Amino acid sequence: MKRTLIITGGAGFIGSHVVRLFVNKYPEYRIINLDKLTYAGNLANLKDIEDKPNYKFVKMDICDFEGVLKLMQDEKVDGVIHLAAESHVDRSIKDPFTFAKTNVMGTLTLLQAAKLTWEALPEKYEGKRFYHISTDEVYGALEITDPAGVEPPFTTKASSGRHHLAYGTAFFTEDLKYQPHSPYSAAKASSDHFVRAYHDTYGLPVVVTNCSNNYGPYQFPEKLIPLFINNIRHGKPLPVYGRGENVRDWLYVEDHARAIDLIFHKGKVAETYNIGGFNEWKNIDLIKVLIRTVDRLLGNPEGTSDHLITYVTDRAGHDLRYAIDSTKLQKELGWEPSLQFEEGIEKTVRWYLDNQAWMDNVTSGDYQKYYDDMYLNR
Ligand code: NAD
Ligand code: DAU
Repeated sequence: MKRTLIITGGAGFIGSHVVRLFVNKYPEYRIINLDKLTYAGNLANLKDIEDKPNYKFVKMDICDFEGVLKLMQDEKVDGVIHLAAESHVDRSIKDPFTFAKTNVMGTLTLLQAAKLTWEALPEKYEGKRFYHISTDEVYGALEITDPAGVEPPFTTKASSGRHHLAYGTAFFTEDLKYQPHSPYSAAKASSDHFVRAYHDTYGLPVVVTNCSNNYGPYQFPEKLIPLFINNIRHGKPLPVYGRGENVRDWLYVEDHARAIDLIFHKGKVAETYNIGGFNEWKNIDLIKVLIRTVDRLLGNPEGTSDHLITYVTDRAGHDLRYAIDSTKLQKELGWEPSLQFEEGIEKTVRWYLDNQAWMDNVTSGDYQKYYDDMYLNR
């Protein structure tokens, strides 16, 4: 079936993996990557697919209502996969307004443009879909507990029947009340409410997913894993917030992209699905794995970079633990993460070490010239 989809935020970390997957897997679809190219957008992430006939890049702000509406009408768009957002918690603490503008007003702009475009068609919402990508951070923070009387992590059994290591007995499930703490998660929570309100009020065919921490290639090096890999490589300090006791639930980015593909095509309208790998790590333990892996792959003796660990002032309002229960997605749609964490980390570290030019382009700021070179000066 032919379809025309807008993927917003396709030049960012997760968006670029989603664009690549859809462009390669569905040659019969037209994929429009709509991205403003903020500091987080890097078209070099999509070098391998930028010349494919079913791919088009449009530089646009999701807050530009006239622009988005015209694009949706002109291109006869029948699906939106919405990833564009301000995504870094530390930046949201310094500059909350930009987060409210992009994450809330930008999402509302897209919703209204989709509604106006689709309700004017004879078939209306038939065959249409608005897929909003959200985060587990909207649920707030979980406790670290040790009910078994042993120091966490302990082995627990998810409702899917899978055994895994966990730092507590409570998990984020789809029916939990939202309790966001940071300006980032408050803005994402607000955007989720608008998406659901457009379904409940106007019947817009929406689906929402809330995913845990992603890692993998092309992540902007302000986030823990790429920042620390790059710092270890250059012998620079590793700023560990607080005591490094916070727990995050890590998922390889391509597994998230596969889940998005599945849910876009098979997920039920108006449903929410949590996406996560049942893979909890205390920051300091994860950092030690990163140090060991980078040192090994660089041929350094074990322990070479341990001294780089530097405990710094904690992040304000730092959420203690995130842990996603993705049983619903596993049971209803049969999705499973494909990679074990050790494999994923090894693959990720290798990618950053093998793609130092990508990293240097980002850290020097040169990546921001890519659009001019590729699209304006050609
Ligand atoms: P990112 O910061 O790497 O990329 C964001 C992209 O959005 C960039 O390409 C940027 O240019 C674009 N963008 C920002 N503001 C825009 C605007 N006003 N108009 C158009 N484009 C704009 O983000 P990411 O980590 O890839 O996250 C993508 C989405 O997934 C976000 O919605 C985020 O909340 C969500 N999410 C991320 C994670 C994670 O671990 N990274 C986990 C769960 C959910
Ligand atoms: O849970 C999903 C979320 O994961 C996404 O919604 C966000 O977009 C994404 O940025 C990520 O948020 P986190 O705040 O968890 O990711 P970050 O990489 O910034 O930090 C991971 C953990 O590491 C967190 O506990 C803070 C800590 N940290 C981070 C940085 C950048 C440090 O100790 N030092 C650092 O320098």
